[in-house]
Amino acid sequence: MEKIIEIKNLIVSYKNLKKNTETIRPAVNNISFHINQGEIYSLAGESGCGKSTIAKSIMKLIRPSQGEIIFRGKNIQDIKRGYANKVQMVFQNPYSSLNPKMKIMDLLEEPLIINTKNSKEKNKTLIKEIIEDVGLEEGCLKLYPHQFSGGQRQRIAIARALILEPEFLIADEPVSALDASIQAQIINLLKDLKNKRNLTILFISHDLNVIRYIADRVGIMYYGEKIEEGETHTIYKYPSEEYTKILLKSSPTIKNK
Ligand SMILES: Nc1ncnc2c1ncn2[C@@H]1O[C@H](COP(=O)(O)OP(=O)(O)OP(=O)(O)O)[C@@H](O)[C@H]1O
Ligand SMILES: [Mg+2]
Repeated sequence: MEKIIEIKNLIVSYKNLKKNTETIRPAVNNISFHINQGEIYSLAGESGCGKSTIAKSIMKLIRPSQGEIIFRGKNIQDIKRGYANKVQMVFQNPYSSLNPKMKIMDLLEEPLIINTKNSKEKNKTLIKEIIEDVGLEEGCLKLYPHQFSGGQRQRIAIARALILEPEFLIADEPVSALDASIQAQIINLLKDLKNKRNLTILFISHDLNVIRYIADRVGIMYYGEKIEEGETHTIYKYPSEEYTKILLKSSPTIKNK
C-alpha cells in the first residue's frame, strides 16, 4: 500500500513565553506513524496530549523542533507551492474557524481566489458542487455562519476544507462539540466524502467510540507520545495498554444511524 504521509520522529516543543526558553517537556515527543492512501487513520488521546500540535505541524502552521513530515515522498518543508491544494484541515472549533462577517459564498470562494487561477464561473460550479456534497442547499450561500446550527456549521467548515479538492484531509475533533445524533451524521458524511472524493483522512478525537465508526487504524497518544497503534477493531477488542482500556471505558457510546 502506498503511504501518502509519513511522520518520522516528530518532536515539537513550545516556547515558554515567560522565560523565553523551550518548555521542558515537548508537546509532541518523538512520534512516528504513517497513513496509507485511502485510509482513515485516527489519533486518540486525552486533552493536551499533543493531537492538534501534530495536525498543525502537518499543516505547516508550526515548525517542528525535530523530525520530518514526508508527504508523497517529499519533506513538506521542501514543498513550496500547491501544498494547500493537497492538504487541508477542518479545525477543532467551527465557531472560530469561520469568519462570522463573511457570507458562506465568500467563505468558500476565498480559498479558490487565493490558491487557483479559476474563472469566476468555474468557482461557482465548484461551490455549488461542494455545498450539495456536504448536504446543504444552495440558498445557504447567501447567509452568514451564525445563521446555522453547530452541525450545519461543521458541514460548511468541511466544504471550505474540501473546496480546493485536496487529497489529504485532517479533521481535528470535528464532532466533539455536537450532540450524539448529529455526530453520527457528520461521521457518515465524512465517510461518504472520503469515497466520493478519494480522500485520505487523519481523524483526531479523544473519543474511541467515535473513532470506532470511522477509522481503519488508530494511534493512541499519551502525554505527547504514541503508546499503542493498530487496526481499530483490534485495539477496540484487545487493547494492550492500561491507558487505552481507561480511554475506552471513559468514552460515551454513540448511536450509529
Ligand atoms: N501555542 C502554544 N504555546 C504553548 N503551549 C502550547 C501551545 N499550544 C499547545 N500547547 C500545549 O501543548 C500541549 C499539547 O496541546 P495540543 O493542543 O496539541 O493538545 P490536544 O491533544 O490537541 O488537546 P485537546 O484534546 O484539548 O484539543 C498542551 O500541554 C498544550 O497546553
Ligand atoms: Mg486539540
